[in-house]
Amino acid sequence: MRVLSGTQPSGELHIGNYFGALRQYLELQEEHECLYFIADYHSMTSVRDAELRRQLTRDVALDYLGCGLDPARAILYRQSDVPQVCELSWLLSTVTPMGLLERCHAYKDKIAQGASADHGLFAYPVLMAADILIYNADLVPVGQDQKQHLEVTRDLAQRFNNTYGEEVFVLPEPHILDHVAVVPGTDGRKMSKSYENTVSMFGSAKQIKKAVMGIITDSADLDDPKNWNQSVFQLWSLFANEAEQEEMKARAAAGKGMGYGHVKKEILERLLDYFGPMRARREDWASRPDDLEEMLADGARRACAIAAPILEAARRAAGLGLSR
Ligand code: ADP
Ligand code: TRP
Repeated sequence: MRVLSGTQPSGELHIGNYFGALRQYLELQEEHECLYFIADYHSMTSVRDAELRRQLTRDVALDYLGCGLDPARAILYRQSDVPQVCELSWLLSTVTPMGLLERCHAYKDKIAQGASADHGLFAYPVLMAADILIYNADLVPVGQDQKQHLEVTRDLAQRFNNTYGEEVFVLPEPHILDHVAVVPGTDGRKMSKSYENTVSMFGSAKQIKKAVMGIITDSADLDDPKNWNQSVFQLWSLFANEAEQEEMKARAAAGKGMGYGHVKKEILERLLDYFGPMRARREDWASRPDDLEEMLADGARRACAIAAPILEAARRAAGLGLSR
């Protein structure tokens, strides 16, 4: 089975991204052929600074490698290193009804938030379909917010196949990670960049400490019974096994001498321990920029080798290029 997913280079990874997405993505490399790419073309709809894009792109590569992407198994590449994806995007756009794009929530939401309504943002789902179809990916793990884009992808694959009477494209299966628990942020809402309530994965120890110590709790006194249903306990539970969770739950219910400060200190210690080896691996790659570039170039070569014959089949089916 061929698995594919893309990540927009848009800022620091937080622990919600890891437990909610990245960890699951990387587990798939044990059993499947995986392609993971950094969606730098897509980021052009929001990031307008070249140097910033280069830096954010490199950060995503380092995040994936730090978290355990094994370049000997999985293919990691920059989207723009396989520019044929733009050609396929054009082919697909000619079978894309306007109404299909007009219904996309992501576009409508961005416009509602004040983004400018340019063609790139509108056509974003077509490029995303090309990202997937150019490798004939079978399975696409994504968060709930991308579900509609995958429906568009399946629809466009079918329309292209029907238009030209050939099964050029495989219809990909979405693998929506909605069974994964939502990680709460320091203010109790869903952890999200846009709420500024995140705990970063690879930020400085000082920055992480500030975020953890700032987790909002109720105002129960030291000896009061504690409400287990608070983000402080949910965050602590990410780093504890079941037996430890049961024990902590009992201590919270009893209250006695169990202050939130103590729980936060434990979160901090466990978090730094948990992500320590990943941070070290990330730093190791960061100290070898030439190796990182070579690894991405190798990823692009491997991705191109899969994409080229599929694009060629689409071109031939549509009557482009060489006569048969
Ligand atoms: P953000 O909300 O911070 O902008 P993104 O939308 O970039 O995060 O999310 C990237 C991936 O991480 C998505 O697949 C999303 O489902 C997952 N994710 C983000 N925040 C959380 C969270 N708090 N809990 C679980 N998964 C999350
Ligand atoms: N749109 C996705 C996001 O914002 C990123 C993405 C681009 C992607 N192309 C993709 C995800 C192809 C999966 C498959 O998160």
